[in-house]
Amino acid sequence: MIQLNLNDNLYFTPDQVKSHQAEISNAYQQLCSKSGKGNDFLGWLDLPEATDEALLNQIQSCATRLERQSELVVVIGIGGSYLGARAVIEALQHSYKMFSPFSDNHAPFVTYAGNNISEDNLCELLEVLDHKDYSLIVISKSGTTTEPAIAFRILKKHCEDKYGKEWAKQRIVAITDKARGALKQLADAEGYETFVIPDDVGGRYSVLTPVGLLPIAVAGFDIRQLIVGARQMRAELLAHNSLDDNIAQQYALMRYLLYLQGKKIELMVAYLPKLTYFIEWYKQLFGESEGKEGKGIFPSGAVFSTDLHSLGQYIQEGERHLFETVLSVQQSHFQVPIPEDAANLDKLNYLCGKSIHQINLTAEEGTRMAHTDGQVPNLRIIVPKIDENNLGQLIYFFEFSCALGGYLLGINPFDQPGVEAYKKNMFRLLGKPQ
Ligand code: PA5
Repeated sequence: MIQLNLNDNLYFTPDQVKSHQAEISNAYQQLCSKSGKGNDFLGWLDLPEATDEALLNQIQSCATRLERQSELVVVIGIGGSYLGARAVIEALQHSYKMFSPFSDNHAPFVTYAGNNISEDNLCELLEVLDHKDYSLIVISKSGTTTEPAIAFRILKKHCEDKYGKEWAKQRIVAITDKARGALKQLADAEGYETFVIPDDVGGRYSVLTPVGLLPIAVAGFDIRQLIVGARQMRAELLAHNSLDDNIAQQYALMRYLLYLQGKKIELMVAYLPKLTYFIEWYKQLFGESEGKEGKGIFPSGAVFSTDLHSLGQYIQEGERHLFETVLSVQQSHFQVPIPEDAANLDKLNYLCGKSIHQINLTAEEGTRMAHTDGQVPNLRIIVPKIDENNLGQLIYFFEFSCALGGYLLGINPFDQPGVEAYKKNMFRLLGKPQ
């Protein structure tokens, strides 16, 4: 199981923690009894148990069909409609899959569209699609989001021009609301295979619905193990209701106490570039959930040791408004020995016999010591290794902690009223009909 390590934290006395125990206990009660703000969006709480074999089989067989007919699968979606899938896929897949004949599976390469409004990106994708067999998975809960809608209109036409209208239908899968929205209407009219995003699950909490599960299965990864991991974490968090033995309560409370002390920015840190998109997923989850009513920790992220050579100076000596949460992965999947070199001009022979991962973990330890000395509190989440089960645990852990964090701040962690502001202006400027 993943663990939370707060042993290095001497930031708060037991009395300080105790003085906020009632607040976290109250937040936990609100969440578990489904009596808090936004309680019509708590479907994610029970998803790991509610996701049954029938749905998993349907997802798997759709994935197998797409895999057989595609070298490339394009996932069209933005925000919660793509970040969870990308987080898991990039954490698990061969980092050089597009070039490597030795990659971990024969699944198609998964790429993404509709998460920006870049004409050049879309044009370059179309160029690739001219030469590859592909399928499209279009994901939008509302079915009306502009970015994926523009991308889908263009890619759908490309697909129909390339394969013919009838065959194109076999290459398009829609994931959307069960009844509402333009995408649902279109999917019904065209007869695409569709999957439903449950009404009571918001976009950023939807990775364990078909929104995440279908792309992850297409990429060749074990969605059952992902669900098993989430189930294990759910059982753990629901079985232990006190601060002493509930890691989501501990993490949520520690973040909250740090926030009250002026640590307004959380830097989610990984030492593995494969976790870059996991950090992006975390940023959306916490940013959209907590950042409202003039409150909330700003969720940020970094990949070390890379970013120690860019952000490191600021973290060590800049304004003291940061704390770090480190995703500390204990094992690598592969070993690359550092060879002996007789001349030793680079003076690296002292590292021979050590694994690169061990060196990475040592960099992590040294950095933790330096940053805590520099008044940057460090929280650590210990992950035994990167696999589907542990990612499932992490996803559920962060979702649960995020909901608790929202309740501690007294806000609704499941709405996102602020996202409408840019859309209103953009639509007015573009002259969208009312
Ligand atoms: O978490 C959310 O609700 C948002 O980030 C949405 O996922 C995002 O805006 C995309 O919305 P939709 O799935 O309706 O296209």
